Amino acid sequence: MSRKPIIAGNWKMNLLQEDAKSLFMGIATFAENFSKDQLPEIVIAPTFLSIPAVESMRCDKCRPLIATASQNCHWENSGAYTGEVSVEMIKDAGCSYVIIGHSERRQYFSETDEMINKKAKAILAGGLIPIICCGETLEQRESGVTDEHIASQIRAALKGLSEDEIAKSAIAYEPIWAIGTGKSCDATEANRVIAMIRNVVKEVSSSKAADSIRILYGGSVKPSTIEEQMSKSDIDGALIGGASLKADSFNEIIEKTMKVAV
Ligand code: 13P
Repeated sequence: MSRKPIIAGNWKMNLLQEDAKSLFMGIATFAENFSKDQLPEIVIAPTFLSIPAVESMRCDKCRPLIATASQNCHWENSGAYTGEVSVEMIKDAGCSYVIIGHSERRQYFSETDEMINKKAKAILAGGLIPIICCGETLEQRESGVTDEHIASQIRAALKGLSEDEIAKSAIAYEPIWAIGTGKSCDATEANRVIAMIRNVVKEVSSSKAADSIRILYGGSVKPSTIEEQMSKSDIDGALIGGASLKADSFNEIIEKTMKVAV
């Protein structure tokens, strides 16, 4: 079955509002040369504060071509959770995706599998789409526990979700040792792990869910790596950090994806 690829830019904790607006305009100006059918699903994930800035730049033409994601959320709708932002608020700001379980959040902010599962449920209940991140450390890879570690992250994240909810979700496989290092995971190996993840989805849900869910690769994706990555059978897109911060490189990744996979 053919799955529409997702090219998502995770801007992390970068860009002041004016820079975020310029980057958005650089992507929108490029995307507007094409129809929605020609493009992959383009997603950008600015900081919470830059989401309204970016949304204020939208015109009718680019609205359907670029979706916005937040980089995190809380699982409750409202309440005494100082510093947090709810799914309802994220939706209200114009987002349709939420990235959850990024390794930086797991590592620096002690996000657990259980929290990620609560977030996934809240996102889906709110009508948005979670991009659930998973990935192994270099130590885990070298000690041969990559597959079991990733499988357990995925089982925990998807616990209690319905077949339909899983089918519309996205997963991003991001080996931690490949993030921000310039050293992308070999495309054949990334495809193998992603196929393994698809099998786990089938086992916890169904073939239908496994065939529908989009599973992205992330970790030092660049214009020079994307064609090989997108030509693999199970890789349905990319979650991009560094190379998403410049319109030129992000647009080149979109353009190369269109040639290989849309
Ligand atoms: P880089 O593309 O900078 O390696 O970052 C990947 C990432 O963490 C995206 O979420």
